[in-house]
Amino acid sequence: MSQRTLVLLKPDAVQRGLAGEIISRIERKAGWRFAAMELRTFDRATLEQHYAEHVGRDFYEPLLGFMTSGPSIALVVEGENVIPGIRALAGATDPLAAGAGTIRGDYATITRENLIHASDSAESAEREIKIFFPAHA
Ligand code: PPS
Repeated sequence: MSQRTLVLLKPDAVQRGLAGEIISRIERKAGWRFAAMELRTFDRATLEQHYAEHVGRDFYEPLLGFMTSGPSIALVVEGENVIPGIRALAGATDPLAAGAGTIRGDYATITRENLIHASDSAESAEREIKIFFPAHA
């Protein structure tokens, strides 16, 4: 099934010089393509929309502080089963639980600095694409 999803390469990915490696892993998957890509330091208002479901959680403020700390790369990726596919490539939220061969399993050690966000459902993807790429909504 062809799908589209919103991916964020978080500030740690850009700061550590891992953006190219992560983009390359996505780009090499057969049948996936980039529909939009932008380097930007997100403002708090944008992230409040994106992470609205997590307001009040203990990780909410640290997450927003981290996500506004430097430039990220936002992408829209399209293709066969791209929503579960990129979640699988990313690995578990907690990098210590993420398998070898996944982006988080290979390169991250703590949950806050876990390199990548990817939409978890078709509904989330459409909502999130609208936030980061209104022209593509
Ligand atoms: S939940 O409970 O399943 O809804 O939450 P989860 O999907 O695990 O996490 C939601 C997002 O919060 C990030 N997160 C954190 N950020 C900073 N510090 C801590 N401790 C922390 N715990 C979770 C997590 O990476 C998710 O962000 P995204 O951008 O969706 O990956």
